[in-house]
Amino acid sequence: SQQANTFEATLHARPIKVTLTPEITTEFWAYNDSIPGPSIEVFEGDTIKITVKNDLPQPTTVHWHGLPVPADQDGNPQDEIPVGGSRVYTFTLPEGCAGTYWYHPHGHETVAEQAFRGLAGTLIVRAKNDPLVHLPEQQWLFSDLKLNSDGQIADNSMMDWMNGREGQFTLLNGSHQPKITLTEATRVRLWNACSGRYLNLNFPGCDVQLVGTDGGLMEKPYALEILLLSPGERAEVIVTPIQTATAMLQSFAYDRGKMGPKVIEIPRFLAEMGLTESKAPTLPSILRPLPQLGTATASKYLEYTEEMKMGSGMKFYINGKSHDMARIDLVSNAGEVEEWTIFNNSHMDHNFHIHGTQFTVVNYELDGDKRLPDYIGHKDTVNLRPYETVRIKIRQDLKGLRMYHCHILEHETLGMMGQLNVI
Ligand code: C2O
Ligand code: CU
Ligand code: CU
Repeated sequence: SQQANTFEATLHARPIKVTLTPEITTEFWAYNDSIPGPSIEVFEGDTIKITVKNDLPQPTTVHWHGLPVPADQDGNPQDEIPVGGSRVYTFTLPEGCAGTYWYHPHGHETVAEQAFRGLAGTLIVRAKNDPLVHLPEQQWLFSDLKLNSDGQIADNSMMDWMNGREGQFTLLNGSHQPKITLTEATRVRLWNACSGRYLNLNFPGCDVQLVGTDGGLMEKPYALEILLLSPGERAEVIVTPIQTATAMLQSFAYDRGKMGPKVIEIPRFLAEMGLTESKAPTLPSILRPLPQLGTATASKYLEYTEEMKMGSGMKFYINGKSHDMARIDLVSNAGEVEEWTIFNNSHMDHNFHIHGTQFTVVNYELDGDKRLPDYIGHKDTVNLRPYETVRIKIRQDLKGLRMYHCHILEHETLGMMGQLNVI
């Protein structure tokens, strides 16, 4: 219906025991006892009312990654729900925000741990007029699991804190190496909800068209062989099996300049795909007109750096500073278009994520060579190669405090985060 609805739900965050093998029972932290958390599906124009109950052993918040929600409803680290407490998050979804989002904790210095213990879920905003509504849909959320030899979730090692955590197991919708069936052209939504793992996905035996990025459909479909998703990023692809076969969904090795002893990276087997040969659909030549932001009238500059501190390990900075809840790093005017320049002055990949809005990439620059992005879409998270610069066009429409940070969650937790006040 064209009517605005109210969507109400409860997310109950608490520890659960999961039986992994007859011998091993592992404690996870989950929303509504489910790994990943319940999938939330709503429409543009809907008003959301979500009650969050915190029965975790530590304070938490829930952040609505990618969505333009009022700052005081966005799960900022300043607004923690105490242990045993609860709160209601409420916001109305504006027209034009249909896309592939997710929710996860964003407490003070606890994001990495709460995420790797299992707290994350998908949030899909549907458009009332969706040009791809006739296609069947699948949702693939990838997360990472690192267990100790006793089968319990491992704490972060020093290397995890430096490089971003990667587990022995990469899960798809909470399952290890599940079977997926594709019998016709399918719209697949993908989430990289891993703390530190980059996904470099191939789809053997399939034709793949990229149709959407973090914040919804792009203007035009874009043929794709490999899809790189850094932590936090999402995509929508049309996957058409072009042969009848059993194929392996893999993440290819990707060198992101990790520190420490060099390990030979090998492809990671993610799922078995049962394919039935079918025909690629004819997609509309314009999926949706992407609103243009216009000329930037303000600018910002961010630089990522690292420092090895004797005794306390690695430190990660933005503009030479570590996150401080009491400090405002940047100020923007609500409604003003800005160009942000982000320089990754480091030998490893980091990505950039900002709360409360979507941006578009203007260009990348490495060693003085500029290049345009391969495709234009709405993004809230973008990767930066070592020593690469990215320029983005961005506008924040809602006033209040917004976080921006590297979405390798260990780096975010260690302070590679800043605060923007929108006035
Ligand atoms: Cu996905 Cu600051 O978050
Ligand atoms: Cu976010
Ligand atoms: Cu980082």
